[in-house]
Amino acid sequence: MVNEMKVMSVVGARPNFMKIAPFIRAIDAHNRNANAGIEHVLVHTGQHYDDKMSKSFFQALGIPEADINLGIGSGSHAEQVGQTMIEFEKVVRQERPDWVVVVGDVNATCACSITAKKEHVKLAHIEAGLRSRDMTMPEEINRLVTDRLSDLLLTPDELSSENLRKEGVPEEKIKFVGNIMIDTLEAQRHKAEALNIMTIIKQNCLLPQQITDNRQQITDGFAVMTMHRPSNVDDPDILGALVDFLCNEVCRDMPLIWPIHPRAEGNLKKFGLWDKVVGTDYLVLLNPIGYHEMLRLNMGARIMLTDSGGLQEECCVLGTPCLTLRWNTERPVTLKEHGGASVLVGNAVDKIRQAYIQTLEEERRPVSPELWDGKTAERIVRELVAAGESMSQ
Ligand code: UD1
Repeated sequence: MVNEMKVMSVVGARPNFMKIAPFIRAIDAHNRNANAGIEHVLVHTGQHYDDKMSKSFFQALGIPEADINLGIGSGSHAEQVGQTMIEFEKVVRQERPDWVVVVGDVNATCACSITAKKEHVKLAHIEAGLRSRDMTMPEEINRLVTDRLSDLLLTPDELSSENLRKEGVPEEKIKFVGNIMIDTLEAQRHKAEALNIMTIIKQNCLLPQQITDNRQQITDGFAVMTMHRPSNVDDPDILGALVDFLCNEVCRDMPLIWPIHPRAEGNLKKFGLWDKVVGTDYLVLLNPIGYHEMLRLNMGARIMLTDSGGLQEECCVLGTPCLTLRWNTERPVTLKEHGGASVLVGNAVDKIRQAYIQTLEEERRPVSPELWDGKTAERIVRELVAAGESMSQ
């Protein structure tokens, strides 16, 4: 078998892992079927390094261990991006890939895009064209830089393709391929369905003392909460008001399961809110949980409260009513006005309460936007091979 091209793909943080798993599987399938093969090198920048934030996802999703780990770890944005560029440059110089493939919008995405282009390596971006138009979000800056530099922009929906056209990206670089996250969801949903809610809670609870008698019988019909964005968790007044709403109002109506992100946990403790959260009946804190566990909770939830973009998309496909704790979104296709399951509620409690009450009246209504069909990774590999052929002519 002759290698037709060498592809180096990059992951850094938790939301990248479910996007790379189907891509690697699709490369393997391509190599089984075609005469020529794609040589693939997986690089992990190490931005997320805890077992619960990284290794457990590799294992659960069958991602092979990264060929190269840059070991970047935590730090300020400049530290993370700068260190990643320094280390990734060495790897690119040594490996000389034909393509670097980046996913999503985390610091690894941006840092490796800049480095690849400076090394004259072709760049493909999976999940191109998303725009929140909120320049206070680090992810928006990462998206703009990455898309500006990319040779192949693989979009999850037509709204994203349209964003790129309006920015002047040439038509031949834009390929609408669908949402690769949904490939993972469709491949894994049966495994998730088989999980038991109480087992998930018992195995992942942060504080075993929270599993008291009155919290022991949680079955479908609870609320799930996730929150990690600086705009929600870094300001004590905003975080305090959100905690009051969750503890005093949501937990009065139903159990609330909250897998907690390290940044949120740190700030709850720093702002003196930890005791309240820990002491509220029917609020169960979990450690960061695995992919299947989160999917199972999402399937059983009566309502999701989240600031995560990925969960917004998963709620859309599963039909879980979703209150998105942000004032804007780069994923408008998941909003109710576009047929999805999510409502933007920001972080002002009055607005959240109003949408919360209204949402509790609603039924689960699954919707799969165009090409969110579980076959996005196959299309991506086809586009990559075609782009490689047309560029080498
Ligand atoms: C990053 C992404 C964000 C994504 C999120 C998912 C960027 C700009 N942001 O944000 O888009 O939605 O991941 O989680 O890339 N920490 C640990 N263990 C780890 C990793 C981090 O304890 O394995 C702690 C560190 O104290 C760190 C904090 O979490 O300071 C935040 O991590 P960081 O990588 O800076 O960004 P996230 O907020 O996770």
